[in-house]
Amino acid sequence: MTTIKTARSQSNGHKWHARYPELGTEPLPLEVFTSKEQFSLEREHIFQKVWLNVCRVEQLPNPGDYWVKDIGVCNTSVIVVRGRDGQLRAFHNMCSHRGNKLIWAQQGNSSAFPCKFHGWMYGLDGTLKFVPDEEKFFDLKKDCLGLSPVHVDVWEGFVFINIDPDPQETLQDYLGEMAAQLTGYPFAECSATAFSWRSEVKANWKIVKDSFQEVYHVGCLHKRSLPDAFVSKDNPYTHVLDMKLFPRHGRASLFGNVAHQPSPVQTLSYKHGSILVRNGFSEQTLPVGINPTRSTNWSFELHVIFPAFFVVVSEGTYFTHQFWPLDVDRTIWESTTYFPKARNLAQRFSQEYSRIIFRDIFMEDARTVEETQSVLSSGAKQDFILQDYELLVRHSHNVVLNMITGKNDGRTFVRASKRAGEAHV
Ligand code: FES
Ligand SMILES: [Fe+2]
Repeated sequence: MTTIKTARSQSNGHKWHARYPELGTEPLPLEVFTSKEQFSLEREHIFQKVWLNVCRVEQLPNPGDYWVKDIGVCNTSVIVVRGRDGQLRAFHNMCSHRGNKLIWAQQGNSSAFPCKFHGWMYGLDGTLKFVPDEEKFFDLKKDCLGLSPVHVDVWEGFVFINIDPDPQETLQDYLGEMAAQLTGYPFAECSATAFSWRSEVKANWKIVKDSFQEVYHVGCLHKRSLPDAFVSKDNPYTHVLDMKLFPRHGRASLFGNVAHQPSPVQTLSYKHGSILVRNGFSEQTLPVGINPTRSTNWSFELHVIFPAFFVVVSEGTYFTHQFWPLDVDRTIWESTTYFPKARNLAQRFSQEYSRIIFRDIFMEDARTVEETQSVLSSGAKQDFILQDYELLVRHSHNVVLNMITGKNDGRTFVRASKRAGEAHV
């Protein structure tokens, strides 16, 4: 993408939007969060077309291990399974006989997949192995009645699936340059200990997503839980250190206050490896996509992988968010914190302390997104107003718009429509 800086926007201090003038600065119509028609277009043109993260390889270490992901927005459930040959495969979780959902558990290990309804039996490779009372069927072609395959691929240990029977691009091409710039981060080592939360929130998936792709709210919403970790006298509004947009994805370097005064328990926690704000980092070991400006005030690198997967990386630890739309105003929200294997109880304590800090902060976000959604249909407002540091929000709404209107090559931005003659006060 061409980078154009205009003198006017630079002088106004709007440096991030000045980098991407093609995005415009118009208000965002809020009907994108309430329209059932929009939701159904997003289902058809986005979620049923793109690569979606469903788990990590550590959840499927052995032959026979399987992981089930119900994906309401794609109207399906998917089984990811490691075969006897060590390969990962994915299938629609649906029996070929009369459509029963084959596996009801979320995970497990099995040598085969029997259907609970009438006992049809499938191998780990999806082939139909056994049909009770087979001779009473009419011209049954067992070879053609295996499980329906789903495309699956892996990036840095993250397992992605694509529901589209003929994906338009490979996972590698889809993730593109942003993911390539993360190469070298020790995801495998840092993923030994995972803590997950899963919750249904009463809000549109983009309301939930947007609340995590800006930190403008940190100094206000999280002022009690994070009084000085991400704000300082010199940076009271948590201005990010850097932002970069990719055709569909986006990245931001988050500020951390190195003068943050930890409480006694935080001091103990930091000492054993858990972190909220770093005091120094190993510049040489971080890939170019992490803290690209090499700022000493850096805390986390936020990677927003379209449509709704966040990988938020710090040195030695990272966390993810995944948002799964259920309906226009309901979303499954999954968050996981990842740490290396604790070598002693002190490190374990430190990790536990960190995950509780994250949980408490996320609870503040969860309440807010539900309260926001609850008044969106009031008719009182028609637009959201975005400021310069909410660039990732604007970008991802433009990507959504591009994809549902058919300009889904990921390279063309379309401005949100502006109603003539309206004032925003
Ligand atoms: S629906 Fe699965 S065996 Fe009948
Ligand atoms: Fe937040």
